[in-house]
Order: sequence, then structure tokens, then C-alpha cells
Amino acid sequence: MKPPATFETARLRLRTPIMDDAEAIFTTYANDAEATRYVSFRTHLSPAEAREYLRHCAAGWAGDGPFTWVILQREDGRLAGAIDIRPQDHRVELGYILGRAYWGRGYMTEVVRAVSDWALAQPAVHRVWAVCDVDNHASARVLEKAGLAREGRLRRWGVHPNVSAIPRDFWCYARVKETP
Ligand SMILES: CC(C)(COP(=O)(O)OP(=O)(O)OC[C@H]1O[C@@H](n2cnc3c(N)ncnc32)[C@H](O)[C@@H]1OP(=O)(O)O)[C@@H](O)C(=O)NCCC(=O)NCCS
Repeated sequence: MKPPATFETARLRLRTPIMDDAEAIFTTYANDAEATRYVSFRTHLSPAEAREYLRHCAAGWAGDGPFTWVILQREDGRLAGAIDIRPQDHRVELGYILGRAYWGRGYMTEVVRAVSDWALAQPAVHRVWAVCDVDNHASARVLEKAGLAREGRLRRWGVHPNVSAIPRDFWCYARVKETP
């Protein structure tokens, strides 16, 4: 699967990341303890960590994923966050983050809808899914609003290293292709 390099939504533009995004990623969300509380990477302490992440993004695009886009406001081109998809057989997993300054405007719901609509329109894709910490209420709400259904509680599913080293319970959400 090779996803498109860009997406346009009503208010946002998604494009493949470039190395020059490192500073904006660092200052907008990766260095923010609150924005990174429920993610799988440690809060970045220097822009060098964002550059390392961008090398990982480039390797994903050169191979079979993950495929990452940065999310920009169309009105001023500012970098607001990022979303990635990880295809595996007929399944596509989503992950996303926004800078705190951009929360609460419906942005991530808009992005998750666009990306999951695209993914499910691919003949080979039958399931779009995501997990989130059971305490990450905003993320759970985004997934619900974007049309994914809660399937269950995955007990001790994953570690959120900025919370603790102990595996935590996650919700599993998915949207599947309707059978014809
Ligand atoms: C989760 C995140 C992406 C949400 O993005 P967003 O653009 O602010 O989301 P939206 O505005 O589309 O929707 C957020 C919804 O959550 C709700 N919400 C926000 N905080 C909440 C809370 N503490 N408790 C319950 N609901 C909450 C909002 O009210 C809104 O729902 P509504 O439209 O019904 O009122 C953003 O908060 C973020 O980047 N968080 C940090 C990174 C992260 O957790 N990523 C996900 C890892 S699984």
C-alpha cells in the first residue's frame, strides 16, 4: 500500500514530514508533557529527538510504513500535529497527536475521518483501528466521533512511558468495511 503524500480536509492539510519540521514538532507537541502523556514515546528533551523521529518517518515512507503526515492549518500553514497509519495485512492502525494550542476545535476528528475514509476505500483494507489509554477521554471521543466503535478493553495492553513503566489498560476501537 502506498498512501497519498497529501490530504486536504475543510480546515487542514496533511503532507509527508520533512526534516525542517523538527523544530515545529518539538515546540508544538513533542516537548510538551501534557500533549505526550498518553503516547508511546518519551517526551522529547531536544530537537535532535524530533529529527530522529523524522528519520523514522522517512524510513516508513520508503518501506511498508508507518506512513506519517504532519497536520497543518490551511489558513496559516502552521504545523498543528501529526497522524500515522500502520498497515498490516487487511488492517490499518491509526495513531495521532496535536499540539495543545490546537485541541478542542474538532481538528483530529476531521483528520481521523478523512484518513479512515481513504483507508477503508482501499480494496485490500477491511479494518481501521486504534487503541487509546482508558484515561485518555479526548482520544476516545475523537474515535467515537470519527465513526469507530469501541470493541473492548485490552487489559495491560501497552506502556505509556510518560505515565509509568507499568502496562496499562487501553480501549480498542475499530471501523470495518461493510459486507456487500
Ligand atoms: C486526543 C486529541 C488528538 C484530540 O484532538 P482534538 O482535535 O482536540 O479532538 P476534537 O476536538 O476533534 O474532539 C475532542 C473531543 O473530546 C472531548 N474531550 C476533551 N477532553 C475531554 C476530557 N478530559 N474528558 C472527556 N471528553 C473530553 C471534547 O469535548 C470533544 O468532544 P465533543 O466534540 O463531543 O465535545 C488531542 O487531545 C491530543 O493530541 N492529545 C494528546 C496526544 C494523544 O493523546 N494522542 C492520542 C493517543 S491514543
